[in-house]
Amino acid sequence: MSASGTVSETNIGTLQLVHRGKVRDVYAVDAQRFLLVATDRISAFDCIMPSPVPDKGAILTAISAFWFEFLSDVTPNHVITTNFDEMPDEIRAHEELRGRSTLVKKTTVFPVECVVRGYLEGSGWKDYLATGAVCGHVLPAGLTQCAKLPEPLFTPATKAAEGHDENIDETEFARIVGADAAARLKSISLAVYSKASEYARSRGIIIADTKFEFGTDSDGNIILIDEVLTPDSSRFWSVETYEPGHAQPSFDKQFLREYLESLDWNKQPPAPELPAKIVDATRERYLAAYRLLTGRELS
Ligand SMILES: Nc1ncnc2c1ncn2[C@@H]1O[C@H](COP(=O)(O)OP(=O)(O)OP(=O)(O)O)[C@@H](O)[C@H]1O
Ligand SMILES: [Mg+2]
Repeated sequence: MSASGTVSETNIGTLQLVHRGKVRDVYAVDAQRFLLVATDRISAFDCIMPSPVPDKGAILTAISAFWFEFLSDVTPNHVITTNFDEMPDEIRAHEELRGRSTLVKKTTVFPVECVVRGYLEGSGWKDYLATGAVCGHVLPAGLTQCAKLPEPLFTPATKAAEGHDENIDETEFARIVGADAAARLKSISLAVYSKASEYARSRGIIIADTKFEFGTDSDGNIILIDEVLTPDSSRFWSVETYEPGHAQPSFDKQFLREYLESLDWNKQPPAPELPAKIVDATRERYLAAYRLLTGRELS
């Protein structure tokens, strides 16, 4: 699984770059397939850091691959292969992509983020403070920050091109994706969260909330796409230190955020270079998440 060298940005001249996110570079391989490449970029406070975290891309790729497989009895997914040696020659020609690449079925993406929340934090906590509800789901009074919710909530959002996604209610969600798909996306999202969060908890990680994306494949099937249940798409907390009533340290970005908060930096780009000890400590947290969840070492 290990990647070769540290990669901040990829440039594969022979493939068409279709998208560059904060962390991943997406290429079109042919009409049916995309290549998702997870780089070692890391972001905090919505800003990409100038210093990469070695192996982060490989770790994220391996965590998603683990979950796709683990969840394959709950939902089909877009993965064709994460085994670099099975990929087309034009990909294998770029050794720097090894370990950090996922060859996937290209789908027509539903333009929504399927968010599931098991705990009260982030925009859900803000909403609860203001309205006593989270995205219209009325909750008992007196819940504290980061409290476990009575049951996980499906709180979809639109995909904002720029800035933060906007929460939408289920009526608006059904209007965007259609009533049938809406019901399917909701039930698959809740089933995936339920199975994965129960397992993660038994391994020492609380998945406080997460977001899924779905697409329709060429046969018309709804399948799980993008990355799944990584620290980049979810809030991971440690079971050991969990304590409701205040914000929780982030499992993966705790040291990075604490370091950035200690600086006189206004959280606008450009972000400052990171000291080696912050990069190393952060890398260790990503590795720990991988080890805990999969029971494997990154080889
Ligand atoms: N199987 C697939 N078919 C089609 N599109 C896909 C598939 N899997 C993932 N995608 C798309 O690839 C893109 C990945 O983008 P990525 O998550 O790296 O960046 P982003 O969402 O723009 O920003 P951020 O870095 O904040 O997440 C998303 O637009 C996602 O919908
Ligand atoms: Mg994304």
